[in-house]
Amino acid sequence: MSSFTVAGGRPLRGRVTVPGDKSISHRALLLAALAEGTSVVRGLSDGDDVARTRAAIEALGAGVDGEKIIGGRSRLHEPGDVLDMGNSGTGIRLLAGLCAGFPWLAVLTGDASIRRRPMSRVAEPLRAMGAHVDGRDGGRLPPLVVRGGGLHGIDYDLPVPSAQVKSAVLLAGLSADGETVVRQPVVTRAHTEEMLAACGVPVDVSDDGLVVTLRPAPLQPFELDVPGDPSQAAFWIVGACIVPGSDVLVDDIYIGPARTGFLDVLQRMGAEVERVGERSVRARYSPELHGTGVSPAEIAALIDEIPILAVAATVAGGDTGFLDVGELRVKESDRVATIIEGLAGMGATAIADGEGLHVRGGATLRGGKVHSHWDHRIAMALVIAGLAAEGTTEIEGWGAVATSYPGFQHDLERLCAS
Ligand code: S3P
Repeated sequence: MSSFTVAGGRPLRGRVTVPGDKSISHRALLLAALAEGTSVVRGLSDGDDVARTRAAIEALGAGVDGEKIIGGRSRLHEPGDVLDMGNSGTGIRLLAGLCAGFPWLAVLTGDASIRRRPMSRVAEPLRAMGAHVDGRDGGRLPPLVVRGGGLHGIDYDLPVPSAQVKSAVLLAGLSADGETVVRQPVVTRAHTEEMLAACGVPVDVSDDGLVVTLRPAPLQPFELDVPGDPSQAAFWIVGACIVPGSDVLVDDIYIGPARTGFLDVLQRMGAEVERVGERSVRARYSPELHGTGVSPAEIAALIDEIPILAVAATVAGGDTGFLDVGELRVKESDRVATIIEGLAGMGATAIADGEGLHVRGGATLRGGKVHSHWDHRIAMALVIAGLAAEGTTEIEGWGAVATSYPGFQHDLERLCAS
């Protein structure tokens, strides 16, 4: 479906389970492909991004049979064709790291958005480890061509706070001679190191979480129930906070390093958001939201939630500033531009100021015709804005939600009907 129309003013009420965490799902598939035996993974994300990673590990020789994945280094082989990772930055970058460990040729590509996204950030460290990595514009853009094997460990300072780059280097490090060390400027999501440790790989994380050291070892197969995705939960949580009469419980989401920064920011804004038990979150309509400043050090822990936090900021009292959001410009869309445009189409004001994004509070959102620019998170953020708006909102480029949350519309209708 290419457009979707939502009527404003309908509260969100009830309980919802979101899809399996997308970051964990990609890693579960890649690690299961490397693990020596049969792993069992339940509750994978049902979005297109993760389906691409599943198809890629099959093309490399892993056996995928429902929840069972049969992996092992000796099963894996050179892919017979180009690996098309669709819209997935995590998929293409992590797969580049895995492929760099093997003496084959792998060609990795994706859709028009992926073919605009920067790949030097993975090409450079993988080359420093001994892989040959090329691509359009000298390896800056996909398609990427990776010929791996014969790697050695490196001690690498991440130039950008990116879990994708950290993970690509660690995945390559599994096939390298000697130790691989990755140093991060701020803590980024820690799924790769958490999951490698669960597979019996010696991984050491410094007390401040910034330095990860890995020694190569065979991976043991594993069993995993993928928790719900906090980045998807964020849409319902913010929706509940800004639409009068709402009260939502999101069940069973991943709570861990660098994933729930958006909850801290919402609480700081005066939102009625609380943790329930270990892994659920309740959010209620919060008429007293106020603007806040989000510092550069906080950005990595909520990078994917900035579009939906920006929606919350429009209806808060006072302004909100997100500082140092340069990375947002190289996501599925240039999210600084697409957020500004989407909010403007609904009567709210946000401006780019150097590396910052500033959202004017106190807006009365009104329905309009807006565009996702084929970015799943922009599409879902604009629907939530539409719920909080007067009138109806039409979101074009709606098909993009299939990237990460094919059941979003179904869950929306259920929560609005409760
Ligand atoms: C992800 C890391 C983040 C995030 C992306 C998923 C991951 O990207 O934006 O949606 O699974 O490692 P960067 O690491 O490039 O910031």
